[in-house]
Amino acid sequence: MTHDTSSLVSDSDSRFEHLQAAFAERFGEGPGDLVLARAPGRVNLVGGHTDYNGGFVLPATIDRAVYMALRRREDQMVHLRSLDFEEEARYTLPESSFRQLPQWAQYVAGVVEELHVSHGLDSGFEGVLLGDVPLGAGLGSSAALEVAAAEGLKDLFRIEISPQETALLCQTAEHEYVGVQCGVMDQVAVRVGRAGHALSLDCRTLDHEHVPLPLSEANIMIADSRVSRELADSKYNERRSECEKGVAFLRQFDDSVEALGDVDRSLFREHAGEMEEAIRRRCRHVISENERVRESAEALREGDLAAFGMLMSASHESLRDNYEVSIAELDQLVTTARNTDGVYGARMTGAGFGGCVVCLTADEVIPALQKRLIKQYEKQFGRAPTLYVVEDNLETVTLNQSRA
Ligand code: GLA
Repeated sequence: MTHDTSSLVSDSDSRFEHLQAAFAERFGEGPGDLVLARAPGRVNLVGGHTDYNGGFVLPATIDRAVYMALRRREDQMVHLRSLDFEEEARYTLPESSFRQLPQWAQYVAGVVEELHVSHGLDSGFEGVLLGDVPLGAGLGSSAALEVAAAEGLKDLFRIEISPQETALLCQTAEHEYVGVQCGVMDQVAVRVGRAGHALSLDCRTLDHEHVPLPLSEANIMIADSRVSRELADSKYNERRSECEKGVAFLRQFDDSVEALGDVDRSLFREHAGEMEEAIRRRCRHVISENERVRESAEALREGDLAAFGMLMSASHESLRDNYEVSIAELDQLVTTARNTDGVYGARMTGAGFGGCVVCLTADEVIPALQKRLIKQYEKQFGRAPTLYVVEDNLETVTLNQSRA
């Protein structure tokens, strides 16, 4: 359980205050603990589509988050209010079909259901939510919502679950109730990501290391193409099954292969020629990307930003050509960024087919980079991208305000 009253939450104080006031207005002051929870979004710096292949990733949290205020009820009703959607959702536990709830509430209900199955949670509660992680932009808004709900409920109902188990529980909730067969990167990054650090994560064991970000020398800038990721979910599940085909093929030659993360370059090279073209490319991406993640973590540890940036750019090329999850808008943002002096590297981030590009850039060129990205994008696509500079990377925290 995290009871954090340190400076970690100071940046979010005004949001928490707003949330508390909105909670009191909607549900009254009343007795009982009020739990406040915050979980940030994430951006993945390197390691695209490696997480569900038992591989490595290198994400970092961002300075946008989902915030929740929660209080226990005496009955079994779950009553939620979203300040962003100006909408409410209400249902009584146990509930097996959430389809009639608004989508934002389905994520929370999925987490509640998983806590019910694993820890017998069957008390009702009321909650108010707000957030500023852009929705559907590939910045982990779903994971932030799931983790904020899980951590808030754990604190409220005094349920002890490790951070890793919490992330897995949130991933299961997304598989079961939202229907996206996502990997585990987002939930782990959101839950354990640390301020001022990237997270070097082995997605099979969930072993991880916090690698310091060289924030005095470089900044993370995100460019949102504002192309909705409509195709993303169906293509995502399609890519997953293509990778499974690759595993089945390569297992014929080495039965210790359980995921593409187990395949080294030499085994792949030996048999690549016998593989179906599309499957070969998907495998080529995952196997080479996995190596890039390990090399990038090393470059970051050594503070070698030039090497890190080149690996980001190589990652983009492979996602574009081998994994085929990029689109013209993302390619153009990456090219413009890479052609700007002072930018170390750029790549698409998240599932693809829309969403965002992440750039690692020297501080002093940010204004010039912003200008160029907007100008070129407007020229080619007739609208501007949305740009964010990550000022700070937030951590997941909860605050328990006891009220006797
Ligand atoms: C989405 C998924 C993650 C990961 C990325 C691609 O963000 O939620 O699990 O697979 O796509 O790297």
